[in-house]
Amino acid sequence: MLSAQDNERLTRVGPGTPMGELMRRFWIPGLKEEEIAAPDSPPVKLRLLGEDLVAFKDSDGRIGILDAYCPHRMVELYYGRNEECGLRCVYHGWKFDTAGNCVDMPSEPNETNFAHKVTTKSYPAAVRAGVVWIYMGPKGEMPELPEFEWSYLSADRTAATKRLQQCNWAQAIEGGIDSAHISFLHSNLGDAGHGNFNLKRETYNLGDRHPKFFIEDTDYGLQIGARRGAGENRHYWRITQCLMPFYTMIPPTMEGGATSDGIPFGGHAWVPIDDENTWTWSFGVHPNRPFTKEEANWSGGRDGTWGPIDDNYRPIRNKDNDYLLDREAQRTRNYTGIDGVPNQDAAVQESMGPIVDRARERLGASDIAIITWRKKILQLTRDLEAGTLPPMAGQGNVYNVRSCSALLNGDADWIEATAELVRGGEIQYAAE
Ligand code: FES
Ligand SMILES: [Fe+2]
Repeated sequence: MLSAQDNERLTRVGPGTPMGELMRRFWIPGLKEEEIAAPDSPPVKLRLLGEDLVAFKDSDGRIGILDAYCPHRMVELYYGRNEECGLRCVYHGWKFDTAGNCVDMPSEPNETNFAHKVTTKSYPAAVRAGVVWIYMGPKGEMPELPEFEWSYLSADRTAATKRLQQCNWAQAIEGGIDSAHISFLHSNLGDAGHGNFNLKRETYNLGDRHPKFFIEDTDYGLQIGARRGAGENRHYWRITQCLMPFYTMIPPTMEGGATSDGIPFGGHAWVPIDDENTWTWSFGVHPNRPFTKEEANWSGGRDGTWGPIDDNYRPIRNKDNDYLLDREAQRTRNYTGIDGVPNQDAAVQESMGPIVDRARERLGASDIAIITWRKKILQLTRDLEAGTLPPMAGQGNVYNVRSCSALLNGDADWIEATAELVRGGEIQYAAE
């Protein structure tokens, strides 16, 4: 459980809140570049950390992330004209460049020079592997971009997709680091032909449904080992990476690291839209070769495992239609009766309500990773209040790690035995 005060501290992300201020010290995945693909293409609405913004690509290909509302009389710039290196408000024609300068003010007499006195809020942006990253923190204190493999490898080896999740970001990431739930929520009922997972892994996950958790503090956050008995004095380990402030890396579906079995690995970012809505980003990466068509669909496709979603990135299965829950399937086929791992996750996380009341929880031994994560991120908010910046925000290279699954002998040291599997590749940016 968490006190009401700490729950507020953990969940609220608007400007001036402790968690909101912490998140503003990191680069944040904001939108897909394809949403503003071409110079002078239509601007798009964007809401992040409780702030309404507008994103556009200007005539020279520069990306602008501005306050959604024109500083003249608060009209939405989304309705504006994206033309000749700027976004022009359609009410009285004031025009803003990507840095937020008012570069034209045709409704005012020239001699007042008023345009030069007006600016609007603008945030720096950077593109990595098709994702536009945004920095919303204090000017002059810019952190480093996190060097995830899915950020620095070429587009044919990476995939990124996002979907709307209608709940607070913290209860979403808590699902991502909760390795215990896969034995239940995502399990199938003895149907060899239907499983999302390979059967061997499912055997381990179902064979031991109360994994023991081991947690290691790291430069980027936490490394979480979930150990299950696998017979013959061996253990099946799932090693999840939890990277501050809102990333996880999911263990691959078979034993081994990302490079050992030809299967891509991936992770999530749970980016707060506001206190009660979240962008659930899914990233996939194959470090050694391009994705096959099927893998690309699995990792990034709108209709793949992470889909289907509508044109606004809202899942077709959502809480308004009970995620198309099928009770017959629940009796005969899978544990939930809901199709698709992300839909199963969203169903349980959204069902807690927009912001779960953590004072009412009864946490057990299998919740130790969640308890540790809460402590760590709450401490980072307190450190920031005391003037210490989150150290990982200034070290992009610490994000260059992987998750893994491994079958280890009973006496193996899990950190040592998986050190090679969780090491990232050589940081080498793909040519743009
Ligand atoms: S409200 Fe935008 S120019 Fe007047
Ligand atoms: Fe899950």
